[in-house]
Amino acid sequence: MSIFNSLPPKINQIYLIKWLKLNYSIFYNKKITLKKLNSERDKNFIINIDKKSTYVLKISNPEESIHLLKLQDIILKKLNKRSDIKNFIPKKIHSSIKIYKDELDRTCNVRILNFIKGKMYANVNHNKKLENSLGTLLGHLSKELQNLNDPYAIRKFEWDPSNISWINKEIQMFKNKNKKIIIKNLKEHNIFTTKNINNLRFSLTHGDANNYNLVVNKNKVCGLLDYGDMIYAPTINDLAVSLSYALMNKEDLYSTLKNIVTSYHNIFQITFDEIFSLMTLVKARLTITVVMAEKQRKKFPDNKYLSISEKDAWRLLYKLDLINPYLLIFLIRDICKYPILKNYESVNNFIKKNQFSSVLDTNLNQKNKSIISFASNSIFSKSYVHKPVPLTKKINSYLKNNDSEIGIGLYQEKRNVYQGSNYISQLNSKHRRDIHLGVDIFAKAGTNIRAPLDGKVFILKDNAFEYDYGPTVILEHEIDVSEKFYTIYGHLSKKCLKVLKVGKKIKKGKIIAEIGNYPINGNWPPHLHFQIAIHMMGEDENFPGVSEQILSHLWSKISPDPNLILGMPNSFFKNNEKIENLLSKRKSLISNSLSISYKKPLHLLEAKNQYFYDDKGREYLDCVNNISHVGHSHPKIHAAMVEQSLKLNTNTRYLYKIMNVYSKKLLSKFPQKLDTVFFVCTGSEANDLAYRIAQNYTKSKDVLVMDNAYHGHTNTLINLSPYKFKGKGGLGKKDFVHIVDMPDGLRGRWKYSDKDWVKKYILQAQSVVDEIYKNKKTLSCFFIESILGCGGQIILPPSYLKEVFKIIRKRKALCIIDEVQTGFGRVGNFFWGFEEHGIIPDIVTLGKPMGNGHPIAAVVTTKKIANKFNNGMEYFNSFGGNPVSCSIGNAVLDVIENQKLQKHAKITGDYFLKSLNRIKSKFSKLISEVRGRGLFLGIDLINNENNLPNEKLATLIINKMRKRGILLSTDGPYHNVIKIKPPMTFNKDNVDLVCFELNNIFKNF
Ligand SMILES: Cc1ncc(COP(=O)(O)O)c(C=O)c1O
Repeated sequence: MSIFNSLPPKINQIYLIKWLKLNYSIFYNKKITLKKLNSERDKNFIINIDKKSTYVLKISNPEESIHLLKLQDIILKKLNKRSDIKNFIPKKIHSSIKIYKDELDRTCNVRILNFIKGKMYANVNHNKKLENSLGTLLGHLSKELQNLNDPYAIRKFEWDPSNISWINKEIQMFKNKNKKIIIKNLKEHNIFTTKNINNLRFSLTHGDANNYNLVVNKNKVCGLLDYGDMIYAPTINDLAVSLSYALMNKEDLYSTLKNIVTSYHNIFQITFDEIFSLMTLVKARLTITVVMAEKQRKKFPDNKYLSISEKDAWRLLYKLDLINPYLLIFLIRDICKYPILKNYESVNNFIKKNQFSSVLDTNLNQKNKSIISFASNSIFSKSYVHKPVPLTKKINSYLKNNDSEIGIGLYQEKRNVYQGSNYISQLNSKHRRDIHLGVDIFAKAGTNIRAPLDGKVFILKDNAFEYDYGPTVILEHEIDVSEKFYTIYGHLSKKCLKVLKVGKKIKKGKIIAEIGNYPINGNWPPHLHFQIAIHMMGEDENFPGVSEQILSHLWSKISPDPNLILGMPNSFFKNNEKIENLLSKRKSLISNSLSISYKKPLHLLEAKNQYFYDDKGREYLDCVNNISHVGHSHPKIHAAMVEQSLKLNTNTRYLYKIMNVYSKKLLSKFPQKLDTVFFVCTGSEANDLAYRIAQNYTKSKDVLVMDNAYHGHTNTLINLSPYKFKGKGGLGKKDFVHIVDMPDGLRGRWKYSDKDWVKKYILQAQSVVDEIYKNKKTLSCFFIESILGCGGQIILPPSYLKEVFKIIRKRKALCIIDEVQTGFGRVGNFFWGFEEHGIIPDIVTLGKPMGNGHPIAAVVTTKKIANKFNNGMEYFNSFGGNPVSCSIGNAVLDVIENQKLQKHAKITGDYFLKSLNRIKSKFSKLISEVRGRGLFLGIDLINNENNLPNEKLATLIINKMRKRGILLSTDGPYHNVIKIKPPMTFNKDNVDLVCFELNNIFKNF
């Protein structure tokens, strides 16, 4: 007969007392009292001797195996020798097991143990300290039981949660919801325990660390009783059994779980595989409890202990039933500090490395966006009432006022808009699931949604409950045979339910659905909920889109930031200052002589390669910032700066290697004759110093400059820059400054139509120089840019420079080339713009691109000229040539070389010129000329009717292009030339985009 069918011992207490006195010397002649204890199948008593010493008397069920009782004795003895646990284990008082005949004359075995003082765990309030102490005790127990075993412990036992298949034949006792839960638990048990059983560690287990077998004293678990259920089973059973009771009646399951599991794991590490089964074992034990209760109650209606936990077990089962079993696994992995998902890193890396297409018809970054927040302090959620009509209106007018087409709802935002009981946390009923796991894209209902990468329809479902997703699509994406991840699209229109099918393959960029309208979209303002899931967690209809805050770390690993795919700039998500505030502060703090581009200024937040990103998360193609030569925010340049500035930064009065290394590399880019460098900080400083050097060398002051040239902002250089001194606020030409005509065949004094036009400009230069000397003045130098930037990107005609240099040198004056704009490979065919002209200047000045944004500039000249400058007056520059600047300059040269940027500028530039010429041939009434070298180009715009420079059109194009996300600027004496000088990473696609948009503008002009 099974011991569950055998009645517990039937005892006559008077007789029992006599028997005890007779059989145990400790009771002999003592006054003893007995108090009955609860037991399922035995009869147990507390024995009190003279109201002092207390013992526990255990009279076993007649059907109990003597071997198991002996086993208990052996184990108790052994555990009592282990220092970490002995205090928690009852001590054996009897020397041998004695036989007692009960009222039914059945043979019952008797044992006596010491009494552990305290209250039952079931009868005290639970808190973190107590729960921690429980976990610690269980951890020690599992640890010690690892190496103990006994053949009699290897047995089948109904209370063993790792083996519950016997329940299958008991299901018919249950009905409705209870039956469903039991069936579901059996299924889950099969997946999470049976199939995993070979991965679990087995050992002797206590088998019944329930709330009535745990003794508590001073808010700590101090004893573990009742070793009658010991069985060789998965080690993790003990933790599972204990949890199944400890979690009963807890509002905050999460904390209890965390408290017990953490402290258990600290003592005895739970394996990754054990975690997979742990919570199913908990559910299994609870299922056993309710099934046993149902069964036993029928047999022994009087034994109340049999159903002592039944109600509580059901309540906990109902709760756990609503929690995804994978979530429980992930949660315990997280508690035990295991990776939540083994493939998180590989999926994440795949996503980070991949290029995705847009989920909307156009790239999100080509739209102005505003954040639509549902945080508690947001205008959209204050006194929130779930009414989609007014909310939609509010969102739309907010977007309009903020010049935005699209609203973006934030990932991991804590929101107060999730109403209804569905959003109450099952892990802690005081909490709600209110942390958003996706990104929302608010756009018009009917907006197309496209697959950002190849995939397959995995779930297609109308989750038609209030506050839910409405029509939902989940795509599965395969990284390789074993690795997959998912993208979730919620709040769609019903169209996708007809058009798609589960299993249908979807190509990257293909339309999968459209944004739905209320009420069918879950009754929300029209938007797409976009989410990534690295694991589907066994879901086949829906997937959580919000989580409780306590689990947001965990969820960030299951559903990482969708922006990894959407690719909006991170700076957009920061709490950015309003543009109006920025502007008014700037105006009040900074001189207004500094201009700001565009009527509606751009508030830039970040930049990468050839792109800027503004406060609307909008991407702008940068066609003008040649200073960021090798691309904005280049990591190599940044690394060089950081590495050196963490090491040494000082001035040129000390020796440091990087200056020599860099100087050598820089000078190697020049003709041999130009072998000496002076480091300064800006182009202006370089030109200023070059002029000083020339004055010193020639002992002259007069200087020849090109008309419309700009050489810098210092006092001296304004005088050398007709672009400035002839313009607004300019004081006019000084006597020592002489101007030659720009050799502009288009609009200059002599035109292309004149076959001698170049010669005539050379002669003009000759006559200006002659005039200087006629007036008894002498010339120090001739300053000229190798391409005339402020002059309107004008290319010097062949032989012009060669001939003018001859004129200058005849007068022993110096020829200075200003390469501040054009240097460092930009012109494509050559590293320096002057090289095209077959001349070697006496001095070359460098700046802008030299440090990719870091202020470093230089004067490069010959030893002879430099030596003459060394006239006793020290040349000192606090910052010029410091180690950090040199390190950055050196890195810029390396990047130009390693990324082959000069060649790239040549190829891209030629392609650009060709494409622009194609536009010019189509719109020859608006474009007179496109010109340039490499990535230094200009488009000269004219008036439809009279071929005159068209400043208005140039300005209009600049503004229209800005609206299309392309930044350009104008220059030239008539401000009619569109200037193009982008970072050198600019590519053919960028060229195509610029030309496409220009073409559109010209077409509609
Ligand atoms: C040709 C040329 N030279 C010199 C300078 C002055 O350089 P910086 O602004 O670094 O002083 C500029 C600046 O625009 C320039 O275009």
